[in-house]
Amino acid sequence: MNYESVMKLALERAFYFPSCEVYGDAQAGFWEYGPTGVSVKNKFLELWRRELVRRDRMLEIDGSQIMSKSVFEASGHLGNFADPIIKCKKCGLTFRADKLISEIANVEIPESADLEDFDKMIQEKNIVCTKCKGEFESAKKFNMMFRVGIGPEDEEAYLRPETCQSIFVDFPRLFKTMRGKLPLGIAQVGKSFRNEIAPRQSLLRLREFYQAEIEVFCNPGKLNELDKFSEIENTTLRIQISDDIQVMTCKEAVEKGVIPNKFVAYYLGLLTEFYKKTGIDMEKSRFRKLGEKEKAFYADVAFDFEVNTTIGWLELVACNYRSDYDLSSHAKKSKEKFEVMDNDEKVLPHVFEISMGIDRSLYTILEHSLKEDKENERMVLSIKPYLAPTHVGVLSLVKKDGLSEKTDEIYRLIRTKFDSFLDHSGAIGRRYRRLDEIGAPFAITVDHQTKEDNTVTIRRRDDMAQERVNISELESILAKETAYP
Ligand code: GLY
Repeated sequence: MNYESVMKLALERAFYFPSCEVYGDAQAGFWEYGPTGVSVKNKFLELWRRELVRRDRMLEIDGSQIMSKSVFEASGHLGNFADPIIKCKKCGLTFRADKLISEIANVEIPESADLEDFDKMIQEKNIVCTKCKGEFESAKKFNMMFRVGIGPEDEEAYLRPETCQSIFVDFPRLFKTMRGKLPLGIAQVGKSFRNEIAPRQSLLRLREFYQAEIEVFCNPGKLNELDKFSEIENTTLRIQISDDIQVMTCKEAVEKGVIPNKFVAYYLGLLTEFYKKTGIDMEKSRFRKLGEKEKAFYADVAFDFEVNTTIGWLELVACNYRSDYDLSSHAKKSKEKFEVMDNDEKVLPHVFEISMGIDRSLYTILEHSLKEDKENERMVLSIKPYLAPTHVGVLSLVKKDGLSEKTDEIYRLIRTKFDSFLDHSGAIGRRYRRLDEIGAPFAITVDHQTKEDNTVTIRRRDDMAQERVNISELESILAKETAYP
């Protein structure tokens, strides 16, 4: 389905909605997850933990969202984390230069291009203010960090623009206390904050957003010595090469030099295996190697994992080989030691990062899972059962004749084990449709026969098939059908 249908579903069924929406001064770029959205987000993160963090014996931390000025002086964000902006000379309205040029002239200029490139294009294409037709001042850089003042002295600190900085500054302690060995993955889920110039499209460009980041610390001399590569070498990757998407195994990608080494290929393979399980249509995905001007300032080599949606390609994950950029900067600034022993060798580890945008991933899952079933006049969210916000609806066919009490009894039996929704009221067809729309894979219905033989019907969301089963079987059926793969 398209962006508008997902938005309608999100607002009407409490997946997500604008923050502070009852007030006129609510700023753009802040959105809340409602109960349905939180439920999918939690399940998505559980899948991420299973398929990446636990599978690879990574360490997970939960760091502060506000960090000291020194962290971002060392990381380079205070100096470099800026977007190009242009301001109208007449009305003062400010635009992000690369986005406005792309929208008006259909020309793509990377955000880190030289400022003169934006000015030149604005002149060449005669681009003026979309509000008042005024001319623009020369392009400038706008730093996207949110400053916060700490305590009565208003000490300078910042909301983190990426979660991973705590992973870098905590690395020496974690390596020591957790008896680390290279390669070592450290993971973190949490919020990051960027003062975007033009937040838009709900979850797709936010000022406050969720990331699930993994930083893998490695010995740069051993990027092709990875025993576990064999576990993933036959996973196929879809890689953009010139104008084509080529499909090749991780092994072939390394042999052909499309991916620089086994280490990077291993994590791109792992990521592919993870996204296959989210229900995103992988035929619409690609890894795209970023050009020099597109990469973030800390990245040596960067591959974006992108997925095509009805509003274009979305970057869901940034995979950056950050080399020793972060550890050497923090070592220099803090004067602490960041080198570790790898067997008998003392090394300053390099870092490969898998930086996942959770909000965009959730949007894409919803868009790829939402279907219109015209024949049966219903919208169906065909989401994987283990990601469904509600696993099962528990319904009484009618309220009278003791069916309502029997339904409550079944609900009480399963409510702590599965996300269950109890519903007694309204026409049964409408109740099924509501469950279909929020992606509940099953509905249990209690009818008159239940009282006679302790059986109920269990209805499947996707094909609407119904089966009669004994109440005693419900728990094992649901456990099997909603289990993570
Ligand atoms: N840590 C990489 C990013 O936030 O994009």
